[in-house]
Amino acid sequence: MPMIDLRSDTVTQPTSAMREAMAKAVVGDDVLDEDPTVHVLQDLAADMLGKESALFVPSGTMGNLISVLAHCGRGDEILLGDRSHIFLNEVGGVSAFGGVHPRTLPNEPDGTLATEKIEQSIRSSDLHYPPTRLLCLENTHNYCNGAPLSVEYMAEAESVARSNGLSVHLDGARLFNASVALGVDVRDITRHVDSLVVCLSKGLSAPVGSLVAGANDFINQARKLRKMAGGGMRQAGHMAAAGLLALKEQVESLSEDHANAKMLADGIAATPGLSIDPQLVKTNILFFKLDHAQLTGEKFVQQLKQEDILILEIEPGIFRAVTHRQVSADMITRTLEALQKIL
Ligand SMILES: Cc1ncc(COP(=O)(O)O)c(C=O)c1O
Repeated sequence: MPMIDLRSDTVTQPTSAMREAMAKAVVGDDVLDEDPTVHVLQDLAADMLGKESALFVPSGTMGNLISVLAHCGRGDEILLGDRSHIFLNEVGGVSAFGGVHPRTLPNEPDGTLATEKIEQSIRSSDLHYPPTRLLCLENTHNYCNGAPLSVEYMAEAESVARSNGLSVHLDGARLFNASVALGVDVRDITRHVDSLVVCLSKGLSAPVGSLVAGANDFINQARKLRKMAGGGMRQAGHMAAAGLLALKEQVESLSEDHANAKMLADGIAATPGLSIDPQLVKTNILFFKLDHAQLTGEKFVQQLKQEDILILEIEPGIFRAVTHRQVSADMITRTLEALQKIL
């Protein structure tokens, strides 16, 4: 029986069409700006994301790093969530490489940052303070149950930032999950930010790559920073060919991943020894708790592994499961049966 890998949507393998397109891609040296397939991908992405330009980068982490560095100088402050990926999981790159000062605000359970708290956190020009330059949002919000941030919220946050002279960057690693879950065009979300990152290598199933999008000047600066960070890729068109199919063919089916996540959450809610609020599950990411006197988290993960099911323990007793193209509804049923058996 195939392994059910619920650790992340990053484990998705490229589709057969992607493998074929990668093999046949017309390529050139992208550092010399001569890769036609990269150009096609960047142009399509800029159009879909409603921005002047887009830039193909090796990872979401690099995309966020060079975006923050393009917006900020050394000693500038950014506002971001205390559960955001940039703050928690990107090795502190914005501080290490950019000398940027991260100021965290508490993420609300729905992934937002309270707009009053954003406003209160923007520094005055007092001699003692670093200048606040940038607000970073995340949509969907990975560590807040994969929550999609609504268009209304994006507009409110933008308005607070703009009226105080801040720019807005969006970590939209799973932006298409947000647009599918909210039933809106992705541009309805992106029009409220100056720059954004979207990943092709997660639920969209491309093997590698993310895109940064924004205004022409911003992308020119991001290209320079990508080179500085060692992210200039040569015949990158092979990867871009898969990315094109990710954008053209894999967005719609994200709704199946969301339905499977909901089915898993409902089943977990009905399993004694586990707890979850299924109402919080709106995209492909869910978190649940183990409340069992005899079973440690480590043992629970091991027992699931023996049933060919992989999940991640994120904090002691708290687990994350992520659905994606390689997890079918039948696999969710099998996972729920295994959970019943173990507990
Ligand atoms: C919300 C979010 N942002 C950024 C990233 C970074 O992407 P990458 O793994 O491509 O560096 C991830 C990765 O899981 C993520 O979940």
